[in-house]
Amino acid sequence: METRTMSIKVEKAKKSKIDKVDFDNLAFGSVFTDHMLVCKYRNGVWEIPEIIPYQPITLDPSAKIFHYGQSIFEGMKAYKDENGDAWLFRPMDNCKRLNISAKRMAIPELPEAYFMDGLTTLLKLDKDWIPQKAGSSLYVRPFIFASGNGLHASPANEYTFMITCAPSGAYFSGKVKVLIEETYSRSANGGVGYAKAGGNYAGQFYPTQLAIEKGYNQVIWTDDNTHEYIEEAGSMNIFIRINDTLVTGPTSDRILDGITRKSILEIAKDEGIPVEIRKITVSEVVEAAKNGSLKEMFGAGTAAVVSPIASFGYINEDYDLAEIPEGYAARLKKRITDIQYNRSEDKFGWRFKV
Ligand code: COI
Repeated sequence: METRTMSIKVEKAKKSKIDKVDFDNLAFGSVFTDHMLVCKYRNGVWEIPEIIPYQPITLDPSAKIFHYGQSIFEGMKAYKDENGDAWLFRPMDNCKRLNISAKRMAIPELPEAYFMDGLTTLLKLDKDWIPQKAGSSLYVRPFIFASGNGLHASPANEYTFMITCAPSGAYFSGKVKVLIEETYSRSANGGVGYAKAGGNYAGQFYPTQLAIEKGYNQVIWTDDNTHEYIEEAGSMNIFIRINDTLVTGPTSDRILDGITRKSILEIAKDEGIPVEIRKITVSEVVEAAKNGSLKEMFGAGTAAVVSPIASFGYINEDYDLAEIPEGYAARLKKRITDIQYNRSEDKFGWRFKV
């Protein structure tokens, strides 16, 4: 990976908008901080990133992002501890995954220093925006899109990398009711399911709308070939507890290598929880729900952290999961958020001081 030295140009906002924000009632990703990072790829190189006041951007109507969907993103969070210090969680993993997604979408890879120095400079500038309230954080959204023009269906010759930050509360509120998908797919072998490509999410909206119309909140994605294997939960990885064993599917072409997923796996092993990374069939889960060995199901992702599933639907039948207050979901969520918010020792070395 290319490394370059740089000095990021910063143009500060004339007046902060922070006083207008109700930090006690934050939705997810709907208000943005005073600044954003912009970095252009032109003439075959990534230019030095700049930080400017948060503002709309201008694109030509023929920009390839609009037509061919060449866009990728990352999701990460900045946390503030009780001393007012700011922290990130495994940020290099996001940087590496952004470049894995870039490669798959024929987007030029971004120098790691641009990502890390840009991110930390932006966060230092907007540090006051990191909420301190329990359960809130600053959701950080790095993304790259094809800003080059032209309708030829081929990779663009110009790209824009940006980072925006949104002080945010919880992603989900209330109990999550999911529907196991029998018809639609999120991804396929050889496809882009492992990349955080914008289109992966757009493709989920219609089947999810259909599930919402039936009274569910989210879809449990199954494999495209047989719909017999459980793969992901909405935009999250999925964990299933059968008796005392925690099971999650292996990452693949179709399944995102979630940073929360792999952290949960390490924490679970450290907790002495038996863990299995293997394919899980829908029939196994239905059978476990019927015979009482299905104890917990939860989604795991940056935005929602750990999101317990209260019930699932499959072929016109609903299966409820009894609430377990001291269950794995609650225990693992506490351990990961204690590390993220600097409330506990970080024996894994995941915390990164801004
Ligand atoms: C995240 O958990 O950060 C995600 O990428 C999900 C996003 C669609 C909100």
